[in-house]
Amino acid sequence: MPGLIVVGAQWGDEGKGRIVDLLAADVQMVVRYQGGNNAGHTVVREGRTVRLHQVPSGIMRPGVLCVIGNGTVVEPFSLLEEMDELAGFGCDLEVLRISRAAHLLLPYHQVLDQVQETSRGTQALGTTGRGIGPAYTDKAARVGIRVEEMLRFDAFARHFRVVAQEKNRLLVDLYGQPPLDIEAMLERLRPAAERLAPHIADTSLIVHQALRRGDRVLFEGAQGTLLDIDHGTYPFVTSSNPTAGGACVGTGMAPGEVGGVLGIAKAYTTRVGSGPFPTECRDEVGEHLVREGVEYGATTGRRRRCGWLDVVLLRYAARLNGFTSLAVTKLDVLTGLPRLRICTAYRCGGTVAEDWPPVGYSLADCEPVYEEWPGWSESLREARRWEDLPEAARRYVERMEELVGLPADLVSVGPEREQLIVRRSPWRT
Ligand code: GDP
Ligand code: IMO
Ligand code: MG
Repeated sequence: MPGLIVVGAQWGDEGKGRIVDLLAADVQMVVRYQGGNNAGHTVVREGRTVRLHQVPSGIMRPGVLCVIGNGTVVEPFSLLEEMDELAGFGCDLEVLRISRAAHLLLPYHQVLDQVQETSRGTQALGTTGRGIGPAYTDKAARVGIRVEEMLRFDAFARHFRVVAQEKNRLLVDLYGQPPLDIEAMLERLRPAAERLAPHIADTSLIVHQALRRGDRVLFEGAQGTLLDIDHGTYPFVTSSNPTAGGACVGTGMAPGEVGGVLGIAKAYTTRVGSGPFPTECRDEVGEHLVREGVEYGATTGRRRRCGWLDVVLLRYAARLNGFTSLAVTKLDVLTGLPRLRICTAYRCGGTVAEDWPPVGYSLADCEPVYEEWPGWSESLREARRWEDLPEAARRYVERMEELVGLPADLVSVGPEREQLIVRRSPWRT
């Protein structure tokens, strides 16, 4: 059974966590392939809310092996905190495997992220401040420290001292900051390394063997297509590849083993942090979406910017990721808006473009072209079958399917596990 990749189709926070939690009922393994503790994936079960940052969202399903892949960056302290919190929820953490080849996100990365953001002033990217950019920078510059190194702590400490001294020079000489206490950091890292050691594994082999056995394996993306470092709204992006290709590079899965790609898309659009957002609503519609959708970041608590559905961007995401179908989330949040808008094209540089802006233009140069659809006033929260939805809600989803050219296999109408309409299985095999 090939793997199914779950990818955010917009700027993150589409509800990947809740969809992975749902699909994990029927799989043997869930693998996170990129990102770090910048991610916040919310799973709600019987009124209790769990926010996952580094642990895959399969952890709430007993017996599912959860793998943190080589394409991620691992922050040891927050990972251990998360593991303790999950153990408190009754989760079994024995099932957690961490790739030997994943890079460590270390305290100096976080400090550097924050001082670099401050020094950008009005040009700040609005990062989560977790150290993601500096950690991936070190990986690409080949000065990063990998998870496996923690298994031989004395050698790790020698490597860490060399890198940390260099970071201190950067902090002091370039940014005018106090230096970090290297030995104090090592003192905290030693017990963390000991606790994580039993989880460190050759995860590309584990994934390969599972796929060969015919297991169902889910690949969980963090962030979203438009935050992809190559294909997103650069430089207002994260430092990894959330797009489907990232699932191969970030886990060791061979491209031929990809069986499907499920795109997760909100019924509207949100974004956290800086950068262009053509359909953003800074009016009462935006207020409605924030209020009804509780649009505050799961990691930083920041209010998310909200706007109308943008199918130009969804078509772009469908093309880049090769989506085989969609999961449409948060349809219930649109209840009460009398008219709904869908952006179908952009006005850009004197022409109308139906695709990603032409070369030489950015999304910031685009003005949305909308079509309007009637809204509905009924609550959708109790709908469990497609027929339970009011006609206007069905028409809205059908229009979305038509414009993107893909079926919406899943439609979610609330944050709880059962608040979901399954129209078809996203497993195509
Ligand atoms: P992720 O990062 O893609 O996993 O998404 P987040 O967890 O950051 O944000 C999605 C938020 O929407 C969470 O608070 C979810 O509990 C919530 N959510 C997910 N699906 C639905 C839905 O269909 N309706 C409503 N009202 N909330 C939802
Ligand atoms: P999940 O997995 C939404 C955004 C930040 C910022 C940009 C760069 O929950 O969907 P970074 O800290 O990665 O260097 O920040 O990316 N960002 C997210 N936005 N959801 C996320 O994760 C995000 N992770 C990063 O707000 O604009
Ligand atoms: Mg999130």
